[in-house]
Amino acid sequence: MKFFVDTADVAAIAELNETGMVDGVTTNPSLIKKSGRDILEVTREICSIVSGPVSAEVTATDAETMVAEGRKLVEIAGNIAVKVPLTWDGLKACKVLSAEGHMVNVTLCFSANQALLAAKAGATFISPFIGRLDDINLDGMELIQDIRTIYDNYGFETQILAASIRTANHIVDCARIGADVITAPPAVIKAMVTHPLTDKGLEVFLADIKSAGIKIV
Ligand code: G3P
Repeated sequence: MKFFVDTADVAAIAELNETGMVDGVTTNPSLIKKSGRDILEVTREICSIVSGPVSAEVTATDAETMVAEGRKLVEIAGNIAVKVPLTWDGLKACKVLSAEGHMVNVTLCFSANQALLAAKAGATFISPFIGRLDDINLDGMELIQDIRTIYDNYGFETQILAASIRTANHIVDCARIGADVITAPPAVIKAMVTHPLTDKGLEVFLADIKSAGIKIV
């Protein structure tokens, strides 16, 4: 399973990248706004840190302008995945950009039918939003399972990039289902390490190290 980091915070990306946990990065207009930086400049900096796919989202709503924006975004670096919304125009733009050999991430997916359309339009990644479905009392994980089943039924190569991940439990559930990629904020990825028995066990070991005077270097 690949881990993408869902942020435009360059320092946070660099820190996680040192641990080998970063297979890619996803950004969106809200994350770019939060960074307070120019989209082209911050995306270029992220691409200089991470060698895996870096998703950068278009701003237009019509296919023609989305394609023009996508072509400009891919000039930033060879690892840009152009992110387009799951609209009819987004699918048209996906078809054009993927036929040109560019990676395309189709975002804002909330149904299995939408995911089916994105795969047929040649998407490299489909981004179903788990947390936002859970927010309205629907089952985000059921959507991941449905897309996995449908893509496997027909051998679609589009990768399931589970997005809007809010908890470490979302990540393990995605891993059980077989999502290809998860994208999560740095804090959620870091939360995966926490277990009370690890803390308790380490406390005992440290006490024994101290009382026995165990020393290695
Ligand atoms: O990248 C898009 C997605 O991960 C957004 O997450 O928490 O704003 O629903 P959230």
